[in-house]
Amino acid sequence: MALYAIGDLHLSMTTSKPMDIFGGNWANHAEKLKEAFSKLGSDDVTVLCGDLSWGMDLEEAREDFLFVESLPGKKIILKGNHDYWWSTVSKTKKFFESIGVTTIDILNNNCFPYGERAAVCGTRGWFYEEETGTEHDRKILSRELGRLEISLKAAGDRDKYVFLHYPPKYGGYECTEILDLLEQYGAKTCIYGHIHGKSLRKIFEGNCRGTAHRCVSADNVNFIPQLITP
Ligand SMILES: [Fe+2]
Ligand SMILES: [Fe+2]
Repeated sequence: MALYAIGDLHLSMTTSKPMDIFGGNWANHAEKLKEAFSKLGSDDVTVLCGDLSWGMDLEEAREDFLFVESLPGKKIILKGNHDYWWSTVSKTKKFFESIGVTTIDILNNNCFPYGERAAVCGTRGWFYEEETGTEHDRKILSRELGRLEISLKAAGDRDKYVFLHYPPKYGGYECTEILDLLEQYGAKTCIYGHIHGKSLRKIFEGNCRGTAHRCVSADNVNFIPQLITP
């Protein structure tokens, strides 16, 4: 059993969005994902760090969910900025049940225990800068902070592996509020996605205030799920 992560599958089985506009490496990216996931086993767990499907609602994302369902192991999903299909947890779970999806769980105001000692925590996160952010941004960030803290608290004294969509540290930007929470709860990791293509030059990976940061957006990891902990 091992814990993996990858973000930004950007699937479009129904909506047929040509993904090679993101860059040549996105051509046939679903096949690349399928091939990489084939190395995983049924007891592995993969956290998918947002931007899962281009579908505009649950129905339009159906084929993308079924694709994820067909991949080995258990999958834990969180919301990205392009997940327009995102609905309430209860509606989504009901939809999953109706289409036979049994291996996808939702990280939203909760955490998932992993093995004896670890917990999978997280939320979407947000880009917010005091000088340029609007009142609306500030509200979204404060909601996201609440969600992250609920998730971290729910993990109790387990080792906290945190997964976000937005990086809390990127280029010259730092979201102090999120970094404070990660430090306060002693998060082991901060794994994020969202950043693609040329912007990947500005990602931060490494140690920040005791937490290991890492970008797992699909094109940063060559469409291969990354091992987080055995
Ligand atoms: Fe994104
Ligand atoms: Fe993305």
